[in-house]
Amino acid sequence: MAKILERKRLAPNIHLIEVLAPEIARKSRPGQFVIVMPDEKGERVPLSIADWDADKGSVTSVFLVVGTSTRKLAVLEAGDEVPVIVGPLGRPSEIAPFGTVVLVAGCFGIGALYPAARALKAAGNRVVALIDAKSEDLVYWKERYRAVCDKVLFSSRDQALGSRGFVPRPLEETVAAEAPVARVIAVGCTYLMYASALATKPLGVKTIVSLNPIMVDGTGMCGACRCTAEGRTKFACVDGPDFDGHQVDWDELFMRRKSYFDDEIRSLCRYEETELP
Ligand SMILES: Cc1cc2nc3c(=O)[nH]c(=O)nc-3n(C[C@H](O)[C@H](O)[C@H](O)COP(=O)(O)OP(=O)(O)OC[C@H]3O[C@@H](n4cnc5c(N)ncnc54)[C@H](O)[C@@H]3O)c2cc1C
Ligand code: FES
Repeated sequence: MAKILERKRLAPNIHLIEVLAPEIARKSRPGQFVIVMPDEKGERVPLSIADWDADKGSVTSVFLVVGTSTRKLAVLEAGDEVPVIVGPLGRPSEIAPFGTVVLVAGCFGIGALYPAARALKAAGNRVVALIDAKSEDLVYWKERYRAVCDKVLFSSRDQALGSRGFVPRPLEETVAAEAPVARVIAVGCTYLMYASALATKPLGVKTIVSLNPIMVDGTGMCGACRCTAEGRTKFACVDGPDFDGHQVDWDELFMRRKSYFDDEIRSLCRYEETELP
């Protein structure tokens, strides 16, 4: 059992959860994730590590409520316990003095990409963050990003943040304005990462994405997270989750993520009707 130190709403439908897990906190690196079970009968939910505090022994994740398991997590409170949290899992992100790095973060990816932003800055890079949110209300951790980035830009659809629309165009403009850009790193929903990789391919800028296929064990045993990258079969949990976005088979990824769609909807209906507090 692991104790929840904090669970709070950061934005509509987006929550932070901080769990006491000293061993994980001691070993966490940017780009890694944990698997957490919201209750003993629940699924194993992979969540990126958005922050950690080795002294306090805690790890923090930011999650979007999409189905039954994330809904269960969203009603937990400080003092509650989760039966399982394992990690850190996955390969850490590559952190080196690349030059100028443009980060694209959206939704839960704003949290997930924060440790890499901090580490890239500490490694001597010029770090430019482009935060994508449908509206200003969905942006969180602005100040955290401002503290570790040379520049923080926003793209939104409600015009409130100096909006320039959905990611591809502002990303192209940012890459042109910041040239030469050594790499782009995009983290968030699959479509955001796909659109970012599509935008940078003709520009020839290496683009790293953090894939989020369905996972079960998170240790390379079950094959649930199988994807194709660099022309080869990969398991995102042990070979990734970071991959070169220009070499991902996106059609396959989108298709495999829909595998349990009907069951997921039925599960959510059942949970809302019978168990939701
Ligand atoms: C390595 C990794 C890191 C992740 N990090 C985060 C994170 O930091 N924060 C976060 O909110 N989510 C993260 N995810 C996604 C998260 O694990 C899923 O959203 C979660 O498992 C959904 O569980 P659920 O029961 O609530 O929804 P489900 O009932 O499983 O799914 C409901 C709907 O959500 C969508 N969905 C299903 N699986 C995923 C998925 N893997 N990613 C996105 N949408 C999905 C589908 O459209 C589905 O119909 C990560 C996934 C991976 C593999
Ligand atoms: S989640 Fe089972 S092999 Fe990756």
